[in-house]
Amino acid sequence: MKISILRYIACPMCYGNLILQDFRLEDNEVKEGALVCRKCGQKYSIMRFLPILTPPYIKPYDWISVEITKIKEKYGLKEGLLHLIEGKLKPIKPKPGGSLLSQEELQEGEYRESREYWERRLRKIKREQIVSGDLEKIWNIFIVMSGIESAKEILDVGTGLGAMLTYIADKWPEKGLFALGISYVNLKAVRGKLKYFKIGENVHLVVGDALNMPFKSNIFDVVESWFGLGSIIEFKKVIRQAYRVLKRGGRFTVSGAWGEAYINFSMLSKIIKSLATQEYEKLIKFLREKELMLHVNEVTKTFKEVGFHDIEVFEEKNLYVVTGRKSV
Ligand SMILES: C[S@@+](CC[C@H](N)C(=O)[O-])C[C@H]1O[C@@H](n2cnc3c(N)ncnc32)[C@H](O)[C@@H]1O
Repeated sequence: MKISILRYIACPMCYGNLILQDFRLEDNEVKEGALVCRKCGQKYSIMRFLPILTPPYIKPYDWISVEITKIKEKYGLKEGLLHLIEGKLKPIKPKPGGSLLSQEELQEGEYRESREYWERRLRKIKREQIVSGDLEKIWNIFIVMSGIESAKEILDVGTGLGAMLTYIADKWPEKGLFALGISYVNLKAVRGKLKYFKIGENVHLVVGDALNMPFKSNIFDVVESWFGLGSIIEFKKVIRQAYRVLKRGGRFTVSGAWGEAYINFSMLSKIIKSLATQEYEKLIKFLREKELMLHVNEVTKTFKEVGFHDIEVFEEKNLYVVTGRKSV
């Protein structure tokens, strides 16, 4: 974590300023330390170079995929999915006073940051192949519609393993770029990826919740989320938060998928044929209720309700991009 990030981050609970305490520097970055809110007193950790700014009741991990994987390893993916849609899987809650991350998670983070991890991974997926076919077209449209090229400060929401983030960091190294993701191990992987490609001098990685963004208001020129919609539960709240953190006149852009496109694009494609009609209906109900699968009209409606204007939509084969501007 670079100290210059303090101008941007805020307490996710009350948006108060954060003060850096008890910290240890390594290579001009804060490796370990604490961030304390001046307003409400809440304390957050900096662990192995990453600020962990999730609200205290949220564990910084990708709970859906981690909890499904636990069941999948015993009984298979279908059973994992059925557990999820029947409400049997829940995120683990951090214990008050306990550590946010286990020793295994910290070790996993170190591994994902390593050169070895990225060499292995990139042998399978070439960097250039992060997008292909239908997605390549929508990727190019997303870049243009989002206005990234003319922005100075950009927030990438739901960074995942950083396909979009890495692209921006590589193409426009002069931009201030912030990554927000809920998963500590994924952001450690992104840190490793940036080091592997020797890019990302101006990138700040933040572990946090997109529904409670740990940033000050009115600070970004562009906020974008490349298919965060699809993985982030209650996505409509993300649209509200994006409006808050954008500067006046700033732009928010999302991409999303609906129906068959959603299924094809996710791990669901592997098991969809084996689901009974009733199970399939339950799955769709779950995706809709959790706002994981939103129709383009719902997204546009929420953009309007939140206050965005100059809304533009691109849609093809149930894949879409929606963008809007915050009032000047
Ligand atoms: C599929 S990835 C999106 C792809 C990514 N934008 C890219 O360019 O590679 C979605 C990510 O959203 C993250 N996520 C899920 N819920 C979140 C939340 N509440 N806040 C922030 N990130 C979240 C997950 O960890 C997941 O890695």
